[in-house]
Amino acid sequence: MRKKILLAILIVLVLMWFGEQKIIRINANANMKYLYDHFTGKEELVNTKGTFYETYMSHDHYVANKWEQYLHIYDKVLAPFIVANKPVNLLEIGVQNGGSLEVFADYLPKGSKITGIDIDEKCANLKFGKNINLIIGDGTDKKVIDKYFSKSKFDIIVDDGSHINEHVIKSFEELFPKLNYGGLYIVEDVHTSYWKNYYHGGYKKSTSTMEYFKNLIDSLNYLYIPNFPINTKLSDIIKLRKMNKEIASITFYDSVIIIEKYSKPKTRPFKNYYAGREGIIVSPESFERGRDINCNKKTKFEKFYR
Ligand SMILES: C[S@@+](CC[C@H](N)C(=O)[O-])C[C@H]1O[C@@H](n2cnc3c(N)ncnc32)[C@H](O)[C@@H]1O
Repeated sequence: MRKKILLAILIVLVLMWFGEQKIIRINANANMKYLYDHFTGKEELVNTKGTFYETYMSHDHYVANKWEQYLHIYDKVLAPFIVANKPVNLLEIGVQNGGSLEVFADYLPKGSKITGIDIDEKCANLKFGKNINLIIGDGTDKKVIDKYFSKSKFDIIVDDGSHINEHVIKSFEELFPKLNYGGLYIVEDVHTSYWKNYYHGGYKKSTSTMEYFKNLIDSLNYLYIPNFPINTKLSDIIKLRKMNKEIASITFYDSVIIIEKYSKPKTRPFKNYYAGREGIIVSPESFERGRDINCNKKTKFEKFYR
């Protein structure tokens, strides 16, 4: 009799084990999705478990609205924050229904603080958990920014506000100084920069968001520009010079621009390293001499960091 009971228990345990395996397999399969991969340009079968994509697609509270490619971009650019597993401070301009704040709060490391700012007073009706902070105000207004963020620093700033070119640029100029070193400033929906109606944009329109950030690229290489044309505004040169010490990269994706701040303030120009001993074709010495004569860079570099 005892033998029979033990055998029955064993059979039940084995069946339970198989059942669990099946559930795990089903769950694993549920995470396998055919997705358009923004970086390979192909539909690929990928395991989405733990991704920003999965967090976003399985979100079931307040409504969020992001384009498909953004989900992959966020997966790529937020990965270092996930790996570091330290709480981050994120600000999003443009809350609307509040869902994107919740998605960021779910996805980013535990203890992260998410702040949303929206000009629409109706947003005050949204109820969030204590890691999400809501501000009603104009994310382009210096007075509002000074009032609420005088002591704040953010690791990630997302601009998903009005998308009006002038607003995007104003917010960037006010808020980029509030981005921590190593942080990301993310501008969404920049396709609107090409639209004349409502967004006051246009293709190659000098006041558009796209042209503003295209011009900012020159700050990365400011030190290598020997001369500026005589009609260049002094304020533009000062801006490029200032940003050269702050901006590590500007990346243009489909509808998204991401500006990355150096992980520490840049305090000297980059050095040019030679490796190896034998310069049979061009000797390193002659190369260096040529560079100094052509660009007179040494003098400029020295002055810049004095
Ligand atoms: C595209 S929706 C935001 C969507 C949300 N981030 C999401 O992903 O679901 C844009 C929001 O920006 C807000 N907005 C427009 N101009 C603004 C401004 N100057 N400052 C702050 N919010 C603004 C609008 O009220 C609107 O709720």
